[in-house]
Order: sequence, then C-alpha cells, then structure tokens
Amino acid sequence: MNMIAVEGGSRLRGELTVQSAKNSVLPILAAAILSSGVCVIERCPRLEDVEASGAILRHLGCRVCWQGEDLVVDSSSLVRWDIPDALMRRMRSSVIFLGAILARCGRAELSYPGGCELGPRPIDLHLSALRTLGAQVEECGGRVCCRGEGLRGAEIVLGLPSVGATENAILAACGACGTTVIVNAAREPEIIDLQDFLRKLGAEVRGAGTSTVIVEGVRPLRGCCHRCIGDRIAAATYLAAAAAVGGDICLSGVDYRSLSTVTTALQQAGCRISSDEQYIRLRSDGALRGICPVRTSPYPGFPTDAQAVLMASLLRARGTTVFVENMFQSRYRHVSELLRMGADIRLEGRVAVVCGVPHLCGTAVRCTDLRGGAALVLAGLQADGITQVENIHHIRRGYSDLAGDLAHLGARIQEIRE
Ligand code: EPZ
Repeated sequence: MNMIAVEGGSRLRGELTVQSAKNSVLPILAAAILSSGVCVIERCPRLEDVEASGAILRHLGCRVCWQGEDLVVDSSSLVRWDIPDALMRRMRSSVIFLGAILARCGRAELSYPGGCELGPRPIDLHLSALRTLGAQVEECGGRVCCRGEGLRGAEIVLGLPSVGATENAILAACGACGTTVIVNAAREPEIIDLQDFLRKLGAEVRGAGTSTVIVEGVRPLRGCCHRCIGDRIAAATYLAAAAAVGGDICLSGVDYRSLSTVTTALQQAGCRISSDEQYIRLRSDGALRGICPVRTSPYPGFPTDAQAVLMASLLRARGTTVFVENMFQSRYRHVSELLRMGADIRLEGRVAVVCGVPHLCGTAVRCTDLRGGAALVLAGLQADGITQVENIHHIRRGYSDLAGDLAHLGARIQEIRE
C-alpha cells in the first residue's frame, strides 16, 4: 500500500517552482492529435493523468515518449478513432479527446466517462456543441459514437461555462470549415494556454479568456514546442499549507493573477502576501482567523479545485468560515476524514461550516479524490503526531511530488511506497 506519512508541527520556509498545470497539459495533449507533426510539451509534469493521456494517444497510434522532462508526441502515425472503456475509466477527463479525434478523423467513439469522486460528470454540453457543428452523435450502450466528416463552423452557445465543453468545442471547431463562435465559453487561464498552443500549431483561435472564443477551422496544423502555464491549484495548495502551519515561502513559475481569489482569502485569514511577475511570497504566523463565506464559481471566481485545501488551512483558525460548493455535487468527501482528525465541520448540502479547533490529531486517513487528498496532507502538517494518508494514487493524478515539494519547504513528510 502506498501512503504519505507526515509529522505535524514544522513551519515551511523556502522557495519552490510550481509544476506545469495539469489542467493545461491534459487538453493540450488531446490537441496534439490535430497536428500532423511532432509536439514537444516542455517540462511536462509526471502525473498519473498525463500517463493515462499518453496511453490513449498510443492506443490511437501516436508515438509518445519522454525526453528528459519533456513529453514528445508524434501524431503523424495516428490510425484509430476509438478509446476503449478501460482507458476512459482510468481518467474521467478523457472526454477531452472527443473533439480532437473528431476533427482529425471525421469520427470518434468512446465510452461515457461516467461519474467520479466529485459526483455525476455529465457531458451533455460537449455533445450538444459537436451536434451544432454538424456531427451525428449517437449514444448507445454507454458509448458515444460521433460521425462528422464535414463539420461546419457555427455559433455554439454553452448553457454553462464548462471548461471541458469549451475545450472540446474549440478542438472540434479546428476541424470545421468556416468560423465557429463559442458563446458563454469558460474563461480559465488553461483555456488561454490551449489557445496559445493551437496558435503555435497554426490554428486560428482568438478570444480565449473571455466568454466568446472564435475559431477559423480547417488549417493545416504543424508541430510545435510548448511549455504550459504554472499550476495555479498546486500553487494554492502550497500557499494554504504555509498559511496553516506558519512560515515564509516563495513560489515561482505561476502567474499570481490566476489565483487572486485564493490569495485574497489567505490575506483575509491573516497572511501577508506579496507578488510580482516572477513570484508569490506568503508569510504567516500560523494563527489564522475565519474569513467571509467562500463560494466556488467559474473563473475568475473562487476555484472549486482550491476549496478543499483552503478548508484544510482554516481548520485551526480562530472563528468560523462558511464554504458553498456550487460546482460539484459531491466535493466534501474529504470532510469525513478531517473529522477523524478532530476538525469541527458541519455539512448541509452544498454548505460546509468550518469552526476552528485548537488542535488536530494525527491518525490514519484515506484520500477520496485528488484535491481532498491534498487537504488531508495539509491537515497532517498541522496535527499533533503522525498522520498516515492512504490511497495516495488520487494525489498522484495531479501533483508530481506533493510530499517531496513540502519536504523541500521543511515539512517532516515522506511518501512510503510498499
Ligand atoms: C475541469 O473539469 C477541471 N478538469 C476540473 O479540475 C475543475 O474542477 C472543473 O473544470 C471546474 O473548474 C480539467 O480541466 C481536466 P466543467 P470539467 O465542465 O471540464 C457541469 C481537478 O481537480 N457540466 O467546467 O469536467 C459539471 O457537472 C479537476 O483538477 C454539465 O452539466 O468541469 C459541473 O457541475 C476536478 N454538462 C460544471 O458543469 C457538461 O456537459 C463545471 O464542470 C459539462 C459540465
């Protein structure tokens, strides 16, 4: 069994370069299918989800290999358009391959990604966007079969600013003749990164980061080299850790503006934060206070992915903080494990009320999902004694070396692989 053992009580100090963003790398690996050449993702983070994407690309016939820290994808040899169930189940966000395969091959077939730890993960907006471009989409027996040899540009209006649906629409539109306008697009920084990558391939995409993205389709697309943006959620995780235990850390490799709602919350809690183009510095005495209600919402609102780690940082704060999780139905599964450590959290549907307690107790806890797992590690950093965090495969999906990074900053923590 693999686990992370952490002994509470150490303050965090030092500098850390944040990994490239998981939620940029994944759609960009799918977008590489559109290229007839070789794409190099520089300093690609070694994540379970990246390995899962590589397995899908290899299944499709692409050549994928690591060259040092870079991941090289050659899509010239792509021959298949289907993703088998086993590969779909390995990574829920595999649905992001749908638009790219359809644009490249004129057809695509994959199984429903199904729900995940966060609750149901519908793809109705994805499929509706593809139908708007002229694709025939049939859903039968848990599989989605798309045909679209002659996709045509259109106006796609998304009912919700879904990140994945926006990305699938952009990728499919690259294979559609004419102009596609995506209205109510998600505005996450990772979508701007995808646009930057596509432009390097030769695609004509503009407007990413706003609610309206425009794509001029059917361009011959070459290969390129690309380094993804820094992972704003990983950065939020380290800042929340230092906020909770006290210390002085400096992060580089991430745009401070992309996590301003998180840094604002940590400042409200009592941290001192300074930043410029190159770094984000957080100083904390570890004695935090409760803050105004935290409501998760689409970017530029408070990111749902940072909800669990901010909650973990406030478990011993003086006072109370209310969280409202508006993005996913089941994103409080880490709470039951935090209660085992002595936290005082009350749940009522989408609302979590966190009352600070003087102490947390180290014990054995189990990860339930990626960000909830990170929250358990952050609770362990604060707890009396040793905390054993199990089921850490969830954490490996999104952090290349969470334990190593925290140890580098002074935490008494190690990953135990048996
Ligand atoms: C992306 O997931 C991220 N994953 C998630 O990060 C993140 O939590 C989420 O965006 C929200 O920011 C990647 O980028 C790989 P959505 P995605 O479509 O695209 C509903 C992490 O921890 N919806 O924006 O799946 C959906 O149910 C992961 O790094 C529909 O109803 O999220 C949810 O309530 C977790 N129909 C809301 O929209 C659809 O067709 C937002 O989901 C699609 C989505």
